Amino acid sequence: MQFLPNLAFHTFLAPMAGVTDKPFRQMVRSFGPHLIWTEMVAATSLVYHSQTTERMMDLSDEKGPIALQLVGNNPQHMAFAAQKAQKNGAALVDINMGCPVKKLISNISGAALMREPYLAFQIVQAVKAAVEIPVTVKMRLGWDENERNVVDFACHMAEAGANALTVHARTKAQGYSGKADWSFISAVKKAVNIPVFANGDIIDSDTAADCLRQTGADGVMIGRGAMGRPWILAEIDGVNPVFDIKEVILEHFDRLLSYYGPKGLFIARKHLAWYATGHSFVAQFRRLVYAEDKKENVVALIREFF
Ligand SMILES: Cc1cc2nc3c(=O)[nH]c(=O)nc-3n(C[C@H](O)[C@H](O)[C@H](O)COP(=O)(O)O)c2cc1C
Repeated sequence: MQFLPNLAFHTFLAPMAGVTDKPFRQMVRSFGPHLIWTEMVAATSLVYHSQTTERMMDLSDEKGPIALQLVGNNPQHMAFAAQKAQKNGAALVDINMGCPVKKLISNISGAALMREPYLAFQIVQAVKAAVEIPVTVKMRLGWDENERNVVDFACHMAEAGANALTVHARTKAQGYSGKADWSFISAVKKAVNIPVFANGDIIDSDTAADCLRQTGADGVMIGRGAMGRPWILAEIDGVNPVFDIKEVILEHFDRLLSYYGPKGLFIARKHLAWYATGHSFVAQFRRLVYAEDKKENVVALIREFF
């Protein structure tokens, strides 16, 4: 792929707010040199110097390529934030045109931009003009089953200058439920001449291979399948990583505490619950972890259960 010449595999970590923070990205990175998406970062908050947002833009101590995802509706603010992303070392800037969260939709951001093609075009143009790194767009199939405009919208984004597109194969109305409809990804792939990445219900090497075969996509992006499984991208790439799950969890826990301070203990709970998914002790482990507020006791629980 023209703008990612050093990547052997095109298996990417999806942007997930509250999940793909620096500690989680570092865990995924420890299994391989993947292209990893940040959580979405609100461009306008950055313009107003929000400390939390500034921190989300910090890509230091991360050795591999990172796609920094921006969300917003103001072309100038998006361009400003993109410049900052470039300065901070992002490999590319991605624009969120798929988030279904009400607060963003009512602000004409995220998936609402698929209904505002003129504004979406202006955003991509402004960001493209502001940076040298590639600019990509992540979108859905459209608003709902009666308005699946992804093919037209994708062509429009390519025309605006986007270097690649990711299609999450669900509508805004579907949120995260219902089966992803990959047939639309094939249609987008046929309609544009820039790389197209497939997203939605890709959870392991079989689904990744099926999706690539069915769609002809240039890469796959893994979302929920990576929760509690930071090694999954490496597995999909056929690297067969060898690891001790207990050590992985302890390292992740430690990184969360170093990054967030005492708050990290609470942020860690959902990750620990995800790691336990599929184990027979999941319910008991979750109950004990959620009741615990001492670091040493959580470490003891991890050691006992895994
Ligand atoms: C907790 C959570 C947070 C998410 N945050 C973002 C986000 O910040 N930006 C974005 O473009 N998509 C976001 N998504 C959507 C994912 O990137 C992905 O498109 C979606 O989960 C479908 O992929 P999957 O079926 O592999 O999970 C989020 C999804 C989840 C579950």
